[in-house]
Parts: sequence; C-alpha cells; structure tokens
Amino acid sequence: MRYSIPLSYNPVDITRITEVLQRYEGIHHNQIITDFETAISKVTGAPYAVALNSGTSAIHLALKVLGIGAGDYVLAPTFTYVATINPIVYLGANPVLIDSEPTTWNMDPELVEKAIDKLKAEGKRPKAMILVHTYGMPCQLNRLLEIARKEGLFVLEDAAESLGSAYNNQMVGTFGDVGIYSFNNNKVVTTYGGGVLVTQKVEWASKVRFWANQSRENLPYYEHQEIGFNYAMSPLNAAAGLCQLPDLQVNVAGRRAVFEQYENALNNLGVEFQSELPGMCANRWFSTFLFKDEATKMRISSVLEANEIETRPLWRPMHQQPMFEGLIVFDKGVGADCFRKGICLPSGQTLTPTDMGEILTQIKAEI
Ligand SMILES: Cc1ncc(COP(=O)(O)O)c(C=O)c1O
Repeated sequence: MRYSIPLSYNPVDITRITEVLQRYEGIHHNQIITDFETAISKVTGAPYAVALNSGTSAIHLALKVLGIGAGDYVLAPTFTYVATINPIVYLGANPVLIDSEPTTWNMDPELVEKAIDKLKAEGKRPKAMILVHTYGMPCQLNRLLEIARKEGLFVLEDAAESLGSAYNNQMVGTFGDVGIYSFNNNKVVTTYGGGVLVTQKVEWASKVRFWANQSRENLPYYEHQEIGFNYAMSPLNAAAGLCQLPDLQVNVAGRRAVFEQYENALNNLGVEFQSELPGMCANRWFSTFLFKDEATKMRISSVLEANEIETRPLWRPMHQQPMFEGLIVFDKGVGADCFRKGICLPSGQTLTPTDMGEILTQIKAEI
C-alpha cells in the first residue's frame, strides 16, 4: 500500500547524488567507500570505521572480532529488533535475554546484575553484553558500562537506530569496545542499505575489513586461509551516505521536533513514551507511544491505516518469538507491555504541519 503519510522517509536527492558521483569520475570506486568511512569517523568521533552491507553483518563481525563463539553467553535486550540477536546464534553462542526498564525502554541494569549473578551461580560466565538504544533513545550507559567493567564483559553497542543520539555529549555507538550503525531505508540517514562498524582498535577494524572481503590474503593470487564473508558496502551505497550524512543534525532536529509535537498534544491524554534521563539526547528515530490498553492501540492503528497513515507495532520481545522459545530470559513484563500497547507514529523530518494535524485529529478521536 502507498501511504499518503509514510512512517519515515528520506527522499533520494538526485541532484546531490549526481554531484557526489561526478566528484569520483575517473577515481577508483573504493575511494567513495573510504571517504564515507572517514566521514563517519568525523561525525561520530570513532577513530576507525568499516563500511559494510548491513547493520546485521556489522553485528555478526563485531561479535566475531570480540571472540564470541560456540557456547559463549551474550547478554542482550529482549525488546529489540531480531537482528540484534540473530548474529549471536550465527556464531553458535547463547543469547541471554534481558527485559527493559520503563523509562527508556532499554535493558534494565538491575536485571542485568541479577542475570549475571544467576548465571555465575550456575557456572555460566557471560562474555559480552550488547547494548541497544532502542528507537534512538540512549540506554543507561553509565550503569551498564560500569557493570560490564566490573564483570570483565566486552561491550558491543548496537546503535543501528541511533546515529546522532548522544550521551553526555558523546555520540552513542562509541562507548563500547565495538559499535555498529545501520543505514537501511528508514534510518535518520540512509545509504538505502548498509551498515558501519566503529572501533578504537585499528587491528579490529583491519580484521573486520579482511573478513568482509572474503578473507582474501594480500597476495598477487587468490589465497584464503580462513572463511570469509561478502559483507563490504557497495560504492553506490557509500555515495548515498556521503550525500545524506551532512544532513544528520538537521534530520535529528527535525525528528526531535516531530516527537515534541506529539508529546505536547498527547501528554495529557494518558499516553506513555520513552523519556530522556539526564545527559541523554535521543535522535527520536521513531516517535513511539503506549496507549492505555491494547484495544485503544488497535483502534488507533486501524484508523490511521484506513487514512493511509503508516504506523508500525513496537517490537515483539525476542523471548516471545517462536524461534527463540527456550532461550534464557530475565523478564519483568516491560517489553511485553510495550508490544501490547504501543505503536510507532510517522516520524520523518519531512512531515508537514498539515500531516501532523491530520495524524493528531485521528488519534484524538480514538483515544
Ligand atoms: C536494533 C537493530 N539492530 C540491528 C539492525 C540491523 O540493521 P540492518 O537492517 O541494516 O541489517 C536494525 C535494523 O533496523 C536494528 O533496528
């Protein structure tokens, strides 16, 4: 279905992408990818960046470079997109799913501590923790990083949704041992498919780049001493990224303004939403709201759908996914409650005042 008001839309700017491509006429295409990586380093402050073909492949190689393998335990949020968890399973490791706290909807530090104690009591020492800043809202980084330090856990920041979000003025994605961003179609800045891995360690960046290019040895013929992957970003995707990256701050400001309008209009009508704690600045990738019960949510999403206004359900927690039945989970029902009562509303920076007026009129009639 074509929506008259889409959830999140980054139009292709044909003039700008043509200009970017013209700059590289006669130059090896790989230079476009290198320049995109340099631009990401500059924007995020991460010393090394490797451009890949998706956020999922970035998570896969991030876990691999941290040495995660068969039988290892990895703590991760249950309230997230499936791509946070799948790569743990690709590597034969065991996801340990942790519920959210109700302020940011991200992994609950208290529950993480409980989980670690319980696992250790069973002789299962976790090796790493994946932090997600869901819908662009930073998680409680101070507390979670402290736990990771105390317990000697590697930290992978799955910042797929949160390029441009910050914590104490530092870009999220740059706090962990490794961080990743997604540039798929609906993100704040898109390459129309792609991901980037960032790290402070040059040797990890080189290893990931090597694996992403089929582990081809630097020899005049094709030699492979280990299994590799075809995970590198294409030059055309990188060109789209170079085209959009300068708009990051404008797009974040636009999305934050969209969220504020919803918040101002709905705050007194009993909705709940993700809140920033001191030091947090969310990119508000998606404006997400919980309504008073499931029936209200269902009514609002069907009325919006009938009016060609695109919405999305919130994540169904991973411990409720049929394929993950039987995984270890520490649950308090927060993620499940978000799934039951919440939706993502149109959130793009291109939303007009008329669009916003129409969305709010429809919601207020059903609330
Ligand atoms: C939290 C999270 N992790 C990972 C990914 C995977 O990114 P990609 O779609 O680029 O593979 C996404 C995608 O949106 C995501 O939301």
